[in-house]
Amino acid sequence: MNTTETLPDLNSPTASDPPKYRFPIPEGMPSTEAIFATIVESSQLPREKSQSLPPGAYVDPAFLDFEASEIFRKEWISLAHISQLPNPGDFIKVDICGEPMVVARGKDDVIRVLSRVCRHRGMDVMPNGANYPDKGNERVILCPYHLWSYEMSGRLVGVPEMQEAEGFDRTEICLHEYRSEIWEGFIFVTLSEEIPPLAEKYDGLREQFMGKWNLSEAELVWDQHWSCDFNWKILLENFMEAYHHLGAHRKTLEPFLPAKGCWTEPYDENYSVMHLPLREDMKEEILASGDAGTTMKPFPGLEVEDYTEWWVYLGFPNFLIFNAPDRTYWYRLLPTGPETCSLTTTMLIHPSTKEEKGYDETYESEVAAAIKFHLEDMEVCEATQRGMKSSVATPGRLSHLEEPIWHFQKYLAEKIKAHSS
Ligand code: FES
Ligand SMILES: [Fe+2]
Repeated sequence: MNTTETLPDLNSPTASDPPKYRFPIPEGMPSTEAIFATIVESSQLPREKSQSLPPGAYVDPAFLDFEASEIFRKEWISLAHISQLPNPGDFIKVDICGEPMVVARGKDDVIRVLSRVCRHRGMDVMPNGANYPDKGNERVILCPYHLWSYEMSGRLVGVPEMQEAEGFDRTEICLHEYRSEIWEGFIFVTLSEEIPPLAEKYDGLREQFMGKWNLSEAELVWDQHWSCDFNWKILLENFMEAYHHLGAHRKTLEPFLPAKGCWTEPYDENYSVMHLPLREDMKEEILASGDAGTTMKPFPGLEVEDYTEWWVYLGFPNFLIFNAPDRTYWYRLLPTGPETCSLTTTMLIHPSTKEEKGYDETYESEVAAAIKFHLEDMEVCEATQRGMKSSVATPGRLSHLEEPIWHFQKYLAEKIKAHSS
């Protein structure tokens, strides 16, 4: 992962990029119902016969409507890590399928997920144009329209010229607070009042796999927003398979995380886990010396065997984690349209790493390396999306190295069945 390259000038757009023109779906592409039926059918195939999703699932607006209502509005969605909001007043804006939200730490030190919909006439209280960046620190949220102001806990504290509004009581008004939970340091939200707590869904993932990293103590040291021209599932599937190390990352990841050795844990209805062992000679060296050989300090809870591989986790539907012994990449991925998505790539480390000599240079080179392999992913994801709207695109057969894609398909099929019943 060491590189001396400097950061490219990304000139990254913000989370509020305008929508782009969408070309029509070609005539003859299967209907949404037919796409549902194909997914349910192919999710039942054994892994050896598995195939990719039908192309329509990546372009059909009605398919995204289904995902928005059955997945993004009914599941736990990860929004931020607690280390991004260390101080009262810290906030991060995020939109989930038409729900403008802000994750904020109040002066009572509580982290909440609030709606950005003003309780006066419904304006987004923190528009970019009014100098509200995607993240920052504020004492109050001042709605720029008529200057109603809210504490970072959501409480309405200032209302000009409302003295003649009969029965109006400012103290009864608050920005809506969504149901949220903190799990392993990550702040999740759900729009559902019915789904069980997050622990019931992901505790197996923590106990068997992720727990050793103790990410609630980690610090998020890098984040980069990407406005993407591809369906969110293209990125998710790319993230979850190591087959593409052979092609897309042949010069970056393949030399030390060869695709060939990767393997996947059996299917679980809540998550998918893939192992990415290091190259054989690197493994042997680590086991012989007990030294992780990493550029940064390994997470303290790990044992020597844990130094010999990297891991990829997908907590359904879209909690994406790529763990190495010395860093974690967490990707926040949200659809913004049938053929677009909003992605934030991040890196978390153990805070003690920052005290190491030469940390600043290591940080620079690790971020450059992360961007480099991510740009390789961006290129293949954009190019894959281009194929999805072709009149001749069809599902293709999957390698055993793409097993997590088959797992995700099974999850999707369950959601389709629940939606159709
Ligand atoms: S809409 Fe926010 S103050 Fe009027
Ligand atoms: Fe990749």
